[in-house]
Amino acid sequence: MILEALDIRKLYGAYVALDGVSLSIREGEFVSIIGPNGAGKSTLINVLTGVLQPSGGSVRFKGKDIGGIGTVALTRLGMARSFQLVQIFPELTVLETLQAAAVSRLGRGARLFASLAGDRRVHADALEVASLFNLADKAHVLARALPQGDKKLLDVASAFALRPEIILLDEPTSGVSTTDKHVVMEILVGAAKRMGLRAIIQVEHDMDIVFGYSDRIIALHQGRVLADATPAQIQADAKVVDMVVGRRRAPHSSSAPHPTLSPEGRGNSEPSPPSGGEGRVRG
Ligand SMILES: Nc1ncnc2c1ncn2[C@@H]1O[C@H](COP(=O)(O)OP(=O)(O)O)[C@@H](O)[C@H]1O
Ligand SMILES: [Mg+2]
Repeated sequence: MILEALDIRKLYGAYVALDGVSLSIREGEFVSIIGPNGAGKSTLINVLTGVLQPSGGSVRFKGKDIGGIGTVALTRLGMARSFQLVQIFPELTVLETLQAAAVSRLGRGARLFASLAGDRRVHADALEVASLFNLADKAHVLARALPQGDKKLLDVASAFALRPEIILLDEPTSGVSTTDKHVVMEILVGAAKRMGLRAIIQVEHDMDIVFGYSDRIIALHQGRVLADATPAQIQADAKVVDMVVGRRRAPHSSSAPHPTLSPEGRGNSEPSPPSGGEGRVRG
């Protein structure tokens, strides 16, 4: 058990946003959190990442209580996150963005840049992450000049550059075209495997992505866990389909697309979701 939430309650004034949420994340899992707007997904992510102190219950990461511990301390413990809206510095290049993350991870701040050896180490570290995210050939491109799909990748890559053990992603493919969503996920899952991540947790609205990549799905509804099960079980659960999944989707299996983003960051062909097994962090 890497991450565990026990009977989490979160109140905003008198409003109950989370009403007794319990969950466990195990080694090697890719878990998606789904639910309609207002279900409490963002609140849950904020509690799980120590940004919000729960009103009740506890969150344990690697056995340690992390309620309200804060992002910096949690990064040090081995958890990183990315946000729904891209949070990159538009005037930094891809490499500079990843170097900033590397510097913060290596924990020596400006002093690391003071030595040539340190500088080289940061450079190599950042370049390695850039390569894992298919961004090496754009290393010197300004973040703001990247197409949307690459911006999203860079944002996720800078969380990976912190070399976390587990990562929480808030809609890693939001704002990305349907075709490119799968490319982003393929690259992300590939990078996670090669970097040895122990678990991925994502909030995701796109059900093709949710069903295509998750080992397990946790459905939230009105601050409660409506279901916590495999994609197949979720799909067979009429109540969850009605309240959360919607009727339109029917997950299908086919081979994964070659992980290349369309030039404009906008796609035009039908997505080809990979089979569920390919989403695993560990085979
Ligand atoms: N800071 C806040 N103050 C008051 N109410 C909030 C706050 N943040 C979220 N809420 C409310 O809590 C509920 C859950 O919100 P949220 O966790 O953002 O849901 P989701 O991410 O699933 O859409 C919503 O009804 C929202 O309006
Ligand atoms: Mg939200």
